Amino acid sequence: MEFYLNNKYLSIIALSFLCLTGCKNEEKTTEEPIKTVAEYDMYQPSEMANFMNAMYAYNLQIKKEILAGKTPATLPLDLMTLHSAEMTKENGRTPAWNSFVNVFIESQKTVIDTLSNIELKERYNAAINNCLGCHKTECTGPIPKIKKLLIQ
Ligand code: HEC
Repeated sequence: MEFYLNNKYLSIIALSFLCLTGCKNEEKTTEEPIKTVAEYDMYQPSEMANFMNAMYAYNLQIKKEILAGKTPATLPLDLMTLHSAEMTKENGRTPAWNSFVNVFIESQKTVIDTLSNIELKERYNAAINNCLGCHKTECTGPIPKIKKLLIQ
């Protein structure tokens, strides 16, 4: 009888041990996909990064037009995307971001304002300097690349 009892306790212990390790295993399997998603994210440019690259390409095009003596008049990008695009986890809409974003949007719009009294090159460089203004605190990596957009 004593042996039977001991055995019963042992099996309960063994069973709960199995259960515990079982639960742990379950945790592991649910953890793994999350990990791979996070790793995947790091190599996947964010919506915002894609939009930034589009803004870079657009301004490079504008720069070429200005240097060729043309007057750019179209802005095919929806700058409101700056307010809606998803950003990478390290970056977010910080107070610094918020203080720069609308100033930038306005200055980018003035580049194609054909009625403006301000010289085109000056308006263009002001927009690029507003890219740089935000980048100085929010994302320093692309600064050398953005500086190349400036018209000397
Ligand atoms: C209001 C702040 C702000 C303004 C204005 C801004 N940027 Fe950015 N930029 C950022 C942030 C923050 C990131 C990082 C995006 C992320 O983490 O998803 C970024 C990322 C980038 C990148 C890197 C994209 C990549 O592939 O990782 C480039 C290039 C860039 N910006 C160029 C520009 C240009 C050109 C302008 C102006 C036409 C500009 N940015 C205006 C904040 C700004």
